[in-house]
Amino acid sequence: MTDQFSKKSEAWSARFSEPVSDLVKRYTASVFFDNRLAQVDIQGSLAHAEMLAHQGIISAADYAEIQRGMAQIKGEIEAGQFEWLLDLEDVHLNIEKRLTELVGDAGKRLHTGRSRNDQVATDIRLYMRGAVDDILGLLRELRIALLDLAEQHSDTILPGFTHMQVAQPITFGHHVLAYVEMFGRDAERMADARKRINRLPLGAAALAGTTFPIDRLRVAKTLGFDDVCRNSLDAVSDRDFAIEFCAAAALVMTHISRMSEELVISMSPRVGFIDIADRFCTGSSIMPQKKNPDVPELARGKTGRVNGHLISLLTLMKGQPLAYNKDNQEDKEPLFDTVDTLTDTLRIFADMARGISVKPDAMRAAALQGYATATDLADYLVKKGLPFRDAHEAVAHAVRTCVDKGCDLADLSLDELRAFSSLIGADVFDVLTLEGSVAARDHIGGTAPNQVRAAIAHIRNELK
Ligand code: ARG
Repeated sequence: MTDQFSKKSEAWSARFSEPVSDLVKRYTASVFFDNRLAQVDIQGSLAHAEMLAHQGIISAADYAEIQRGMAQIKGEIEAGQFEWLLDLEDVHLNIEKRLTELVGDAGKRLHTGRSRNDQVATDIRLYMRGAVDDILGLLRELRIALLDLAEQHSDTILPGFTHMQVAQPITFGHHVLAYVEMFGRDAERMADARKRINRLPLGAAALAGTTFPIDRLRVAKTLGFDDVCRNSLDAVSDRDFAIEFCAAAALVMTHISRMSEELVISMSPRVGFIDIADRFCTGSSIMPQKKNPDVPELARGKTGRVNGHLISLLTLMKGQPLAYNKDNQEDKEPLFDTVDTLTDTLRIFADMARGISVKPDAMRAAALQGYATATDLADYLVKKGLPFRDAHEAVAHAVRTCVDKGCDLADLSLDELRAFSSLIGADVFDVLTLEGSVAARDHIGGTAPNQVRAAIAHIRNELK
């Protein structure tokens, strides 16, 4: 080929009198990170070409040539044989140039009625749709692993904390289900973001639409989009769908980070409620006794970078006038890193959840300290007719006596307990036990073992 396009390195260079410097070339190029969009770029191009042929804008022969060329390019990329050129700026121009090398004029007709502006917006949406589907699958796996853990420990009792102080006895199953709920809402948010991701920008062209008789709904259908973006200016410029995804991702990581913090504390020898499998921990190069919870710590740390990416994208978008601006090229690295970080983290956590071993004796011993059943004693007095505030005060006196004596409420004799309220009878010892305490919280959302089992069944049914 001896035409202008193939001689010049840039698709747009005919208008310019001097080439850009190497530094500017490197500064403006995106090919070394946006080449991960190659497969979706080809998918989008093929759908566009099919529509062009169907509408008679290009010939059937040209479409066949484009298909042939793209099949070869796909193979070259998969085999790692495709040569990505910085001179060709981005993934789109690299692929288009190679297509033209392979099939000639048909390749040059592909870009009819299209711009890189609607092309890149389409690629990102296709890529993100796939990423969201993967993430939804991983959230589901993690939730199932946690449900299994909760089921094994519906009856295991440990202290529940507020302000990191022993508050009331709870079941470990109930504790784990709190995370199942968090990750469930995360999945809802991802699924909701997917609805707005899954709309087709292609056809918006550079910004105003195109003069060719295109069929956008046809392309949307081919690519599995639920709808087309309804305004061409908006279609090429806004990245709110990516920001929404990053916000949802930041919340997933926030939940992961909370869980990580709990894993770190709970496996500390000072607490010793759980252990995690060795494959998620490392030793110390100097202290032979150490088993460090590296994976939860790193996940807690990586939450920072995902939160940072959300702020990057919000800041990237906030000052942009309509329509497309090159600023938007900066959406990719934060987005890709968010997808990578979240995907790897969820994959590891789903596995790690199955590597958690629970130490019920340590949990129980801790629940027996700290007057965890004091509220139960107050509730007992209320049920005998005492107003709650008076009951609270009577139990506070009892706790103070226990603190002075260095014993638990259940260690006091009936006579000693009756000194705080004459309403106390021999049945009081039922409510002072850990089992009695958790079993009594027997309503939807409560910690009673049978409620935990019911909640597990409910969620398993939803996950079917
Ligand atoms: N590489 C660009 C991006 O990621 C593609 C769109 C370029 N369009 C343009 N008119 N420069 O946003």
